[in-house]
Amino acid sequence: MIRTSILVLGGVFLASTTWAQELPEGDPEAGRKVAGMCRTCHGLDGFAKIPIAPHIGGEPVDYLAAQLAAFREGTREHEMMSVVARGLSDQNISDVAAWYSAHQVNAELPTDADESGAPEQCSACHGAVGLSELEDAPHLAGETNIYIETQLKAFRSGKRTHDVMTAIALELSDEDIRAVANWYAAVKLEISAPE
Ligand code: HEC
Ligand code: HEC
Repeated sequence: MIRTSILVLGGVFLASTTWAQELPEGDPEAGRKVAGMCRTCHGLDGFAKIPIAPHIGGEPVDYLAAQLAAFREGTREHEMMSVVARGLSDQNISDVAAWYSAHQVNAELPTDADESGAPEQCSACHGAVGLSELEDAPHLAGETNIYIETQLKAFRSGKRTHDVMTAIALELSDEDIRAVANWYAAVKLEISAPE
């Protein structure tokens, strides 16, 4: 089972450094301007406008910056995001990550569900309702099934790589993937502007 190996992998993951630590300090107000380039897909507040794009408002700043750097460097690829990220400077990345990260998130399970039903092999890091417990892990709350499934299959096939998530995804069948995607996609997510 996956559950036992996660603790070991979790240690490796916690000890690893992130890209974001090498980036300059971000300014959310400058980032708001950069977000003009993102809003057609992610919204100005980070609530996605198209099903294949993720909600990014209120995500941990390190996670956002690391993903943008990965798209820019080509270690994560996507026809839309690779093009967008290639045009961003280090400062743009820090600023836009600071802007989106400064938003507040609220996540609620559907009324017929309770936290005990959460996928155990995921909730230690992504939370029962899909709000991340870690600086380098994303929220999953309210992401679409298509987005969650695409990412898990990308980790499983090696198209997207990450020491922890690759190992976890390799253990998941298509059915497992559908079940965890259904759980997190059913969460109602609200994103509100920075104070
Ligand atoms: C044309 C639509 C489009 C635009 C414009 C766009 N994105 Fe994206 N973005 C996407 C899609 C689609 C994905 C999912 C990529 C994948 O499947 O790997 C994504 C993924 C991301 C991710 C990864 C999030 C995660 O949870 O892993 C970040 C961060 C991101 N975008 C930030 C931005 C920022 C910042 C901008 C503006 C500078 C921007 N995007 C502009 C469509 C877009
Ligand atoms: C030990 C911590 C940990 C566990 C357990 C874990 N994840 Fe993750 N997950 C992460 C990290 C860290 C990332 C960011 C990967 C990266 O930087 O590319 C991630 C990324 C993801 C993504 C990509 C989301 C996005 O916005 O692009 C999905 C989907 C995901 N995890 C689903 C799951 C599911 C489903 C499970 C349970 C079967 C799970 N994870 C278990 C740490 C974990």
